[in-house]
Parts: sequence; C-alpha cells; structure tokens
Amino acid sequence: MTSQTLREARKYEEACEKRIKKEERPAFHLSTRTGWMNDPNGFSWYQGRYHMFYQYYPYESKWGPMHWGHAVSEDLLRWDYLPAALAPDELYDMDGCFSGSAVELSDGRQLLMYTGVSRERLRQGEHREVQTQCLAIGDGIDYEKYAQNPVLDANDLPKGGSVADFRDPKMWKRADGTYGCVIGNRAADGSGQILYYTSEDGFHWNFKSILASNFNRFGKMWECPDLFELDGTWVLLTSPQDMLPEGFEYHNGNGTLCLLGEFDEKTGFFRETHNQSVDYGIDFYAPQTVLTPDGRRVMIGWMQNWDSCGIRSPKEKWFGQMSLPRELSIKGGRLFQAPIRELEKMRRDKVEYTGVTVADTIWLDGIKGRKLDMELTIRPGNPKELYQKFAVRFAQNERYYTALSFRPRESILKIDRKFAGSRRASIHQRRSLVRMVENELKLRIILDRFSVEVFVNDGEQVLSATIYTQQEADGVSFFADGVVNMDVVKYELRLDEADALE
Ligand code: FRU
Repeated sequence: MTSQTLREARKYEEACEKRIKKEERPAFHLSTRTGWMNDPNGFSWYQGRYHMFYQYYPYESKWGPMHWGHAVSEDLLRWDYLPAALAPDELYDMDGCFSGSAVELSDGRQLLMYTGVSRERLRQGEHREVQTQCLAIGDGIDYEKYAQNPVLDANDLPKGGSVADFRDPKMWKRADGTYGCVIGNRAADGSGQILYYTSEDGFHWNFKSILASNFNRFGKMWECPDLFELDGTWVLLTSPQDMLPEGFEYHNGNGTLCLLGEFDEKTGFFRETHNQSVDYGIDFYAPQTVLTPDGRRVMIGWMQNWDSCGIRSPKEKWFGQMSLPRELSIKGGRLFQAPIRELEKMRRDKVEYTGVTVADTIWLDGIKGRKLDMELTIRPGNPKELYQKFAVRFAQNERYYTALSFRPRESILKIDRKFAGSRRASIHQRRSLVRMVENELKLRIILDRFSVEVFVNDGEQVLSATIYTQQEADGVSFFADGVVNMDVVKYELRLDEADALE
C-alpha cells in the first residue's frame, strides 16, 4: 500500500522533472529527478538492469526529510527515472529514510535495507535521535515496508555503541545463499566503528562482530561502509566525518577512506594492511559498489561534499549528481579506478595531437567542449631541464575557467575552480601528491556540463569536482612555464546522435 506521503512525492516529482530541460542537467551522470540528492543507495543489478536509489528530498534543492529517489539504467550512463521508492511515513522513519542497500531474495523479490530515523522525546523536553535498520520488499518499482520493522535497533548494538549514530547498512548475498551486512556506528569513545551482521533469510539479523574500529584515527563517525573482495584482497570503503588533514592524502572535513586488508568471515574481523583516500578532488562522498553480471566491481559516489554544498544556490531547480561509474581493481597494493568501459561507446569525433610543444599558453584546433573525454600525456620538452609548471584550463571563456596544474619538482597536481563562476567562499582548490612514471604524467579528464573527473596515471588516483560555469565557457588551453612535450587524444562524448544537434 502506497502511503499518502509517497503518493504526494511521486506526483510532485513527475510534475517538477518536466521543468528541468535536458541541457540543464548532466548528460551521462545521474542527477536528482528534482530537488535534492545525496548518497547513492541500493545500487544493484535486478531484473536485467541496474537500479540506483538515492537520498532524496524532492520539495526543495536542499537537504530535508529523506526519501529514496529511484532510477534505472542498462549501461550506467543513460538513466530513466522511476517513481520515488520510499518516503518517511512510519513512526520509526518519520525523520527520514536514510542510506541503505538492496539485494535480490531467493524468491525473486528485491529487499531494501535502510536506516529509519526518528526522534525520541526525553525528559525535560529534550530529544534524542534514534537510528534503526528497516526493510522494504518490492518488485523493482513499488516497495512495501516490512511489518516487523525495525529489524535492528539498540538491542543489537555492542556495548557502548551509539543509538543516534547507527546507519547506512550495506548488505550482500554470500556464496552459500545467506546474507552479510556492514553498518556504520559510533563507539563509546566517540569514534567510528563498522558493525557486521549476518542473516539466514534477509529478515532476521544477528550481530556478529565489530568488524573494524577507527580509534579516532580517520575522523570521527564512519558513514556509508561497503565491504567486498577484489582481486584477492578485501576492501573496506567508508566515509569518515570530521577528518583532520594528513599530508596530501586526507583533507579536512568529510572524506573518503579505502582500507585494504584481510577479512576473516568466521571471526568477522577485518585486518587492515593499507589505507588511502578514494578521491583526491573536492566533491566525492559516500560511494557504494555493485558487482556487475560480468564480474566487474563498479563504484558510484555522490559527486559533492557536505562542506562544499554552498557552491550551488538552493534556489536552483536541482542539487546533487552522482560520479561516473568507476571500475575498481587492485594494482600494486592500491585501489585503482577506471571510468566504466561503456563510456567508450559514447566517444565521437576523435582529435589527436602527438608531441606538441607547450612553452607558453596555446589553444589547439578542435580541442574544446563541455562533454568530453581527453587524455593528456605530458613529459619534459627539454631532457636537460625540468619545467616548472604545466597547466590545462577548461570550461574557459574570457571570464571563467577551471584549471589543473602540475608542478613536477613537488609532484603536486592541483585542481582549482576559483574562477569557475562561484560567488561563494567555499573550497575551490585541492592539491594532491601524484607520481610521474618514467618522467611522464598521464591525465584522463572527463567533463560533463557540471563536473570534471580526472583519472591520474590510468586510475591510480582520481580527482572529482563539480563546476557550475555557464555552458558557453567551453574553451580548453594549455600552458607551461618551461618546456613541455604533450600528447592529446580528445573525444566528444554523446549519448546518442540526437545529442549532436546541441
Ligand atoms: C552521508 C549521510 C549518511 C546518511 C545520509 C542522510 O552523506 O550522512 O550517513 O544516511 O547521509 O541523508
């Protein structure tokens, strides 16, 4: 039975979506149907297509009582909206249906697990937030909340675990047909921990172990965990709040953390062997992964960060988009990310230059656009003298640009959107330590109207940022202080031939 709250949201979103023109949204990144979007939820393959749900407030372009938006896709690049899947319409989730995940049950139905948020009244008129885990069962379009919700609550926490910070369940089906689930929580020391639960049938869940503890090392609370095996290594992803910076690896505020290690399913304990950031840019948070039918582990994150939401006015018709789907792999003990290979099918109009000398500012014929896939390989133009700096500017006109600059002596790559048109004093720059391989740096830059994603050295690192510069600013220029020798391969990215008319 669809509640009144959900019916209203569905009616509202259908009307409002029509007010947003195709060109006012990203072309191949999923953006909110209307209003506000944050975390990806329930990222899954179900009944022959990918499903993506998302944290959603349809009524305004700012965060509000959370619903679950819903979209489907066959290639993770062309998305169709479906009606909102969940609304905060029960006592246990009246303050929001927070993040969660999806699996297929053995009888073919889809099971969603999400965090129900409600407020509990304490004495003296004070309130306390209560977070519990709840289920909804559906057919890929309509979902019914489980009558026995919540299925996990304060009674299922380890000693000292916080009731107010107990969220973002990520479930998966194990090889023997039973289910596992990781959930973010806060321990008595105020620091994050990941809890591990198991279930025979997806409905009855048991606390198994504290899978990993932060001990206040990487920020405080750990949000949105994901756990999977990849190339013989276990990967634990989580998004810590309140980070302190650490060199060029971790920045202040909300960050993304990838821990590699060993996971013992018997004890439910994860032993960490390596840590790194997932994204080194400005806008990336709360990623979630799916296993594709052909065995690829693909990750999508919210291409935004809580600390930089001020870059876009809540008066705009939409706020929030997802990152590109990224294929994950482990190489040399690190997490690598590559844009999903389906993107290559969208490439049109190849323009290629080899061995271009850059010694000042130059423009190259045919190199421009706001939906493009461009690979640069840069090396010293003069074998005896290292250049001081290389920069590429894009989304550029007389007034605006966003820049990527590289200083080889420090090996620092900087993304800078200070001149992208924002009138807010938000975070506009980020520096990252990168590696030159045999004196070369490789940058694959993907633009889609309102964003840039930079894949460094075939995915060894990624930097993502949103840019809301007017679309007429479509120039690309190159600059060097010193002499650089550069190869460029550039394609237009088009979803279909109709796009060519734009
Ligand atoms: C992460 C997060 C989650 C929570 C959701 C609420 O961005 O804070 O922990 O479930 O957003 O919208």
